[in-house]
Amino acid sequence: MCGIVGYIGEQQASPIILEGLKKLEYRGYDSAGIASLDNGSSVIRRSQGKLVNLENILRDQPLTGKVGIGHTRWATHGKPSEINAHPHKAGSIIIVHNGIIENYLQLKDQLKQLGHTFKSETDTEVIAHLIEESLKTEADFEQAVRTSLLQLRGAYAVCILNDKEPGVLIAAKLGSPMVVGLGEKEFFVASDIPAILAYTREMVFMEDGEFVIFRSGTAVFSTIAGNSIDKKARHIDWSPMMAEKGGFRHFMLKEIHEQPRAVRDTIAGRLLELDGDVYLENLQFSDRQLAAVKRIIIIACGTSWHAALVGKFYIEGLCRIPVEVDIASEFRYRNPVVDENTLAIVISQSGETADTLAALREAKSRGALNIAICNVVDSSIARESSGVIYTHAGPEIGVASTKAFVTQLTALYLFTIRLGRANCTIDVLHGQRMIAALKKIPGLIEEALRLNDKVEKIAKKYMNARDFLYLGRGKNFPIALEGALKLKEISYIHAEGYPAGEMKHGPIALIDENVPVVVLVPKGNSYEKTISNMEEVITRGGRVIAVCSTGDEEVKKRAETTIEIPNLDEDLDPLLLSVPLQLLSYHISVLKGTDVDQPRNLAKSVTVE
Ligand code: M6R
Repeated sequence: MCGIVGYIGEQQASPIILEGLKKLEYRGYDSAGIASLDNGSSVIRRSQGKLVNLENILRDQPLTGKVGIGHTRWATHGKPSEINAHPHKAGSIIIVHNGIIENYLQLKDQLKQLGHTFKSETDTEVIAHLIEESLKTEADFEQAVRTSLLQLRGAYAVCILNDKEPGVLIAAKLGSPMVVGLGEKEFFVASDIPAILAYTREMVFMEDGEFVIFRSGTAVFSTIAGNSIDKKARHIDWSPMMAEKGGFRHFMLKEIHEQPRAVRDTIAGRLLELDGDVYLENLQFSDRQLAAVKRIIIIACGTSWHAALVGKFYIEGLCRIPVEVDIASEFRYRNPVVDENTLAIVISQSGETADTLAALREAKSRGALNIAICNVVDSSIARESSGVIYTHAGPEIGVASTKAFVTQLTALYLFTIRLGRANCTIDVLHGQRMIAALKKIPGLIEEALRLNDKVEKIAKKYMNARDFLYLGRGKNFPIALEGALKLKEISYIHAEGYPAGEMKHGPIALIDENVPVVVLVPKGNSYEKTISNMEEVITRGGRVIAVCSTGDEEVKKRAETTIEIPNLDEDLDPLLLSVPLQLLSYHISVLKGTDVDQPRNLAKSVTVE
């Protein structure tokens, strides 16, 4: 998830682009750059780190020119560095890109054979070279861009300039967001509305497969293949604050709604569908190394620890390797049994959590093979691990983790496939089935998000409760824990998660008509047992909010309130169950008037012990 901005008109481009990028910094901030075209030659300024570094460079070395493009990066392919920062240039072509090109390695090999040399590790640079190559055979710049884009697989929103066509800016979109702003003799392009809201409120929303060329004061829209289309502008009357959050009231709600995209990005380019296997680009362990793993320890804190607990079910259940799950702050102080046959997996959204980092170092010092599941590229944990699976959730700003959690589950599921294929516990057919199910998840999360209004009403009904219980069995027990944590941290209501079968060993004493009990009871292995646990609650006067599979009349007959989620594959239920629980905490918190995005006493990244 990166941010792009483009400008063409009668003003100096660079200051407009810089201001736009500031508004998009929430989309990525590990490096930034701007290119502008003046008198037929482009100048590019780039810098690693936050935008302020680029701003300082531009103060000393300003850019001139009335057309330009800019980018703020959230690294996916290639570490954060100046060389990997956008814009990228090949020959006369300059480009900024948001998205992931899935077939970039294949294209890069072909281009290398044709004599192209690459400066960066990015997938984006491949597009610039592809256009440069197409220019040799195509009639003009516009056609060369179209031909090149049609060769890409994956997702992109791109802005493209050509030194040799100084009055032209091209933009196109497939799978990544893009909006075009219409001004007085000027045009703006951006990943998101806030970037250009200060300049215009007339906006055209680009759809997948669309293309726009700006020249001589006009904007001509078409499909990438070249068919003309008619686009209508919309007037946007959002306040700047609303715009920053994409029209959502809080970052948390925005991030909850970004989950289909986040899961799509996390699996993009990694599925080897015919082989029933996955490719994890920063995890270059051989099958032999993976097959030799006899024991796994997964270590994390908070929400990431809940993901780890689900990971245990995946790996033990499917790869038949014993898995322990440890809280990072406990792990290093308990003289853990770890040796060269142990694989330590650390999970961290930020990659900077002090306890998790220390636990990683502890596991390494004891000789463990180690990998990280991280969201922030090149964070300390990512750098210090021998291998890393990046979740491509994009920056998470709300303190309560949502999209990072769901992508951690996705990454664990991908790793399970890889490990199972390597140690032969998952055969090709099984791997193919797992992949097919995973591919359906983004669409099903979209379906689950449609529960928003219903969950808001449920929140109104239960918001005054002092305590909540969350119950689940098997791999849904960690989701009960996660549901309870979400509620506690943002609404300050006391909540506990329990394995449903454990109720009768103590917590059942808490049940009365004042305690809402959220029971996770989708169809599957532990369905009937969970129904019995739900009955135990009901007979004691408890008020059950059941999260069940769509159309489950048995549950509907019993529970006071039901939330129905799509039913796909038991192993992937944790991803779908998470969505209504996130929404429930969110709405209760809003109704109670707490600070949703920055709850009291909490920090997004806990870098102290
Ligand atoms: O960045 P990390 O994943 O290492 O962070 C771990 C926890 O601090 C984090 O998950 C925390 O529990 C969140 N606030 C939960 O929403």
